[in-house]
Amino acid sequence: MSRARNAIVSALVLLVGRRRRRPKPEETRLVPALPPNPAAELVVLALLGLCSLAALGFILIYAFGDSLSAETPLLGTALGLAFLFLAAALIVVGLKLVPTEELAEEYPPHEHPGEQQVIAELVDESGTRFTRRRLLKLGLLGAGGTLGLAILTPAVSFGPLFHVGNFLRTPWRRGRRLVDENGRPYKAADIEKNDFYLAFPEGTSDEEKDQMAASLVVIRLDPDQLHLPPHLEGYDAHGILAYSRICTHAGCAITLYRAPLFQPDEPRPALVCPCHYSTFDPATGGTVTFGPAGRDLPLLPVYVDSSGYLRAKGNFDGPVGPSWWGVRLWNAQP
Ligand code: FES
Repeated sequence: MSRARNAIVSALVLLVGRRRRRPKPEETRLVPALPPNPAAELVVLALLGLCSLAALGFILIYAFGDSLSAETPLLGTALGLAFLFLAAALIVVGLKLVPTEELAEEYPPHEHPGEQQVIAELVDESGTRFTRRRLLKLGLLGAGGTLGLAILTPAVSFGPLFHVGNFLRTPWRRGRRLVDENGRPYKAADIEKNDFYLAFPEGTSDEEKDQMAASLVVIRLDPDQLHLPPHLEGYDAHGILAYSRICTHAGCAITLYRAPLFQPDEPRPALVCPCHYSTFDPATGGTVTFGPAGRDLPLLPVYVDSSGYLRAKGNFDGPVGPSWWGVRLWNAQP
């Protein structure tokens, strides 16, 4: 507890300590005068510098480390080190640079204005051992600033600033067959109207199947029911459509298919997310017809090979998963 208090006083001394004044006579000081300790100051400066470097490392790994296999452990290590160095710097300040003494005295019955003056003097006089006050102040501000930036960095990737490849990567690429949960490849003839099917990329592990980017809902519509927008022309295979199973609102799985219809209440088939009832029209490219989803359901282009199997023609037409700031700026990546 007293260490924590020392650390807080240390930080206060560094940040709000004023310019060195002419030393007070010993008998009028509240805090005993102790000699400067330049070696400890150097250690503090070094630790604050290391804290800044570690926080900067976090930001760089986050921004450019998409291809690193150990990106997550590296991020954790960098942030952990930044906090460790900052804590170590404050501990050195508390132990080696701020005079400490324990005085037992009763609480005064009421606050009185003189107390503030006493605290200001305490902070002021506690800093008299510092010889490189400005440098230390800069070091502390630098460490605090880079650490604050590092903490804010992950939020920035929701905006258009960082291109975070992991959010956009999917295992789909041209020629990959669509398989069911047991790995059995789908043939076009397996897909019947008024039913819907769960599909995954062939050859993916169970772990990859759990990845949100991988799974599909596959349905069949009459080709003359289709009104796909021009940029999605050719995405269906004779009326077979393969949509991402992940709702573009908050990422729940699409588990409801409104077909067959109950005429005349429901005019067209629809894919529905049970979480908040976002409803997507598969005939028009997964457009949102109801609910809170803010963008269309991504569509995977498919074709039927010479043996009748369903295969992907490429990747989705847009990013898979829940929406975030700037999501419309990028495309899904294989
Ligand atoms: S997550 Fe699908 S509607 Fe909210």
